[in-house]
Amino acid sequence: MAGLSQHAHWSSRWTFLLAAVGSAVGLGNIWKFPYEAGEGGGGAFVLVYLAFVFAVGLPVLIAELSLGRRGQLSPIGSMAKIANEEGRSKAWGLIGWSGVVGGFIVISFYSVVGGWVLAYLVKAMSGFSGYDAAISTQTFGTFVADPVSPIIAHFAFLAITIGIVARGVTGGLEKAVTFLMPALFALLVGMMIYSGITGDFGAAVNFLFNPDFAKLTIETVLQALGLAFFSLSLALGSIMTYGSYLTKEMNIPRSAVIIAAADSGVALMAGLAIFPIVFAFGLEPGQSVGLVFTTLPIAFGQMTGGAIVGTMFFFLLTVAAVTSSISLLEPAVSYVEERTGIDRKKVALFIGAAAFALGTLSAWGQGGNLLGDVKILGLDFMSFKDYITNNILMPLGGMFIAIFVGWFISRKTMMEELAMEEGTFKIWLFLVRFVCPVAIGAVFISILYNTIIA
Ligand code: PHE
Repeated sequence: MAGLSQHAHWSSRWTFLLAAVGSAVGLGNIWKFPYEAGEGGGGAFVLVYLAFVFAVGLPVLIAELSLGRRGQLSPIGSMAKIANEEGRSKAWGLIGWSGVVGGFIVISFYSVVGGWVLAYLVKAMSGFSGYDAAISTQTFGTFVADPVSPIIAHFAFLAITIGIVARGVTGGLEKAVTFLMPALFALLVGMMIYSGITGDFGAAVNFLFNPDFAKLTIETVLQALGLAFFSLSLALGSIMTYGSYLTKEMNIPRSAVIIAAADSGVALMAGLAIFPIVFAFGLEPGQSVGLVFTTLPIAFGQMTGGAIVGTMFFFLLTVAAVTSSISLLEPAVSYVEERTGIDRKKVALFIGAAAFALGTLSAWGQGGNLLGDVKILGLDFMSFKDYITNNILMPLGGMFIAIFVGWFISRKTMMEELAMEEGTFKIWLFLVRFVCPVAIGAVFISILYNTIIA
């Protein structure tokens, strides 16, 4: 296979961790987590989400990193190679395919939202003064319904992503995360302190940490599972690809714990940065997709120094989104590069262009826009792609990854990859063998049941 000999590696454990945390921390943590927690009723949703992150997401994260490192190829190449080495059916290779294809679908709409963030970063610089609920909602609605501006923003966001991925693992990904991730962290801490001091911190803490289990429904539980997977970047090829750039010396379980802790930590910090402001201004927490784009600008428009805080916030969101989108483009690029030997720059450009084209449908599929009336199974393009990936491909992909490493790979292989103590290894094995498949399967089946019967 061409390109195999040049398969890159991270230069250090630190850059790998930055890149993996960069992939994990993204719109999922700062945009989705707060609004899904808001809609899901707060504390109970947060607890279920955290339980899924550690009991289901973390073992799968460990599995994916190990499969990637073992295979040393793109997810498609790695899965085929490992299934073969272990004397298992070729069909396991489908896990690799579903990851790479799923990742491609996700980047096509992730970059549309990334474009909205970029556009709002520009808007934030001139401030949101005079924004009330009506103006804010209308401004966002008019923006997404415009056939041109969101496309330009989508293009700009993808151009940044392609520019980084085209430069390769050490020249592109590592360089980008090395300065972007510390910036992200500093901005987030800054935002949190600011809203802690000026906002209603007590109400935010109460909202996020005081569980009311009566508010949970099977839908919100699935939502939390999907979010745990999405925010850890699982089952879309990203983590497996990043694992393939690992060298043998790096300890996978320890790194995975750091990644999961940083990822859920950032989600909570984002909640603690956003909700004090939302409550202090008497705004609604369950504003769905609009929380970040319509609710927060109202607060930014009213507070002193709002132009600076708003700019900081949307810059933070841009950084988080870019360090994730590069990991969504990377798996497909690594596969095509591996199979064809074509120069990475050309491949990145080509796949990026395809994602741009597919994403255009999502951008135009917003209410009021050119394709705003087109519905697939009652969903607009973006929601449809989100549903297919978040609620179907990711949980199922994660389930099959857990089943594969738990039941179909020799214990010796896994022990070698994980280098864990016997006791910890057994816990991990129990989680991937039983807890992950049963938990994912149960949530999944009840959803299918609900959708088909109801
Ligand atoms: N984890 C990213 C986020 O939270 C999204 C993502 C999902 C990235 C899957 C890569 C793979 O925004």
